[in-house]
Amino acid sequence: MKLLVTGGAGFIGSNFVHHVVAHTEHHVTVLDKLTYAGNRASLAGLPDDRVAFVHGDIADAELVDGLIAGADAVVHYAAESHNDNSLADPRPFLDTNIVGTYTLLEAVRRHDVRFHHISTDEVYGDLELDDPARFTDTTPYNPSSPYSSTKAASDLLVRAWVRSFGVRATISNCSNNYGPYQHVEKFIPRQITNVLRGIRPKLYGAGHNVRDWIHADDHSSAVLAVLNRGRIGDTYLIGADGEKDNKSVIELILTQMGQPADAYDHVTDRAGHDLRYAIDSSKLRDELGWTPQYGDFEAGLAVTIDWYRENESWWAPAKGATEAFYAERGQ
Ligand code: NAD
Ligand code: DAU
Repeated sequence: MKLLVTGGAGFIGSNFVHHVVAHTEHHVTVLDKLTYAGNRASLAGLPDDRVAFVHGDIADAELVDGLIAGADAVVHYAAESHNDNSLADPRPFLDTNIVGTYTLLEAVRRHDVRFHHISTDEVYGDLELDDPARFTDTTPYNPSSPYSSTKAASDLLVRAWVRSFGVRATISNCSNNYGPYQHVEKFIPRQITNVLRGIRPKLYGAGHNVRDWIHADDHSSAVLAVLNRGRIGDTYLIGADGEKDNKSVIELILTQMGQPADAYDHVTDRAGHDLRYAIDSSKLRDELGWTPQYGDFEAGLAVTIDWYRENESWWAPAKGATEAFYAERGQ
């Protein structure tokens, strides 16, 4: 197959391209705008005869039309992805997440190309800490932030294009990813690189918020399962039963890096901060036979810490500007 992967120079998109090259015979064209979050170095070492790169915007209708005309399937990762940025400046989130997704949908409609839309568990809002329920594909949408509301809007566009125009699309909503190539603005890499730089890790508020962690490589295998075997029009939730509160994660990072577990600062909380996400992925496991390979979060975190230790040249260029952004906000 010839895959067009949008956002393939970002964190999860680049992990997907590495996974596809290692586990399939597919050819990949990456379409990426190389915003602050995109990095060509994340695709270094991949074979030129399997992976091509196009620098451009998913909202550029002419460019997108030509690329989609030559593809068998589109896997759509490109997005503005960071909640804190969406609180500082929501506009790029509307342009990329909503108008960009609309532009892709119109092109796959014209050329009858299979489309897989990557989304997030955040579209469902948040859960109480003691709620026995977890998110499923029938949970009502209730997004909290400018980021998650634009992702919810993009999901609804996909559903409408399936029903109204017969577009052959699927959607997956995944929980929090960790692993190599994640931008240092995000929670886990921010704290790892802080420790490596001798900066104290920063915990928002009391740190009782819970996230449901999955390794990015497990996300990739789940996306391939949906692309290959998913029912057109369906939504699949992706998660690896990895619920942890932020305080425990920051303490684990410090301990694994040989520091005292309490060597971190409490900083200003995120506005509208979602309390807990939790995914019920039984549909994906039962219907498509998917299972995660990184069952153990502690082991996956240790490998991720090693990756940041060994790849300072990849993350160092973004570290100063990222910490300056947070410092302005008391975070
Ligand atoms: P990221 O911010 O690391 O990467 C986004 C990529 O998209 C970058 O390479 C960027 O240059 C590119 N991009 C942004 N705007 C573009 C545009 N207009 N045209 C072309 N390319 C553009 O994001 P990520 O964490 O890898 O997330 C990827 C996708 O997965 C997003 O759709 C996100 O909503 C979803 N998701 C993320 C997580 C997570 O934990 N990070 C979990 C579930 C779902
Ligand atoms: O749930 C999936 C979502 O996970 C994706 O849709 C998003 O694209 C992705 O960014 C992520 O969103 P979060 O907001 O959960 O991730 P983030 O890494 O920003 O923060 C994780 C938790 O850690 C959150 O509760 C906020 C907290 N946090 C974050 C930072 C950056 C801190 O306590 N300190 C920090 O320095």
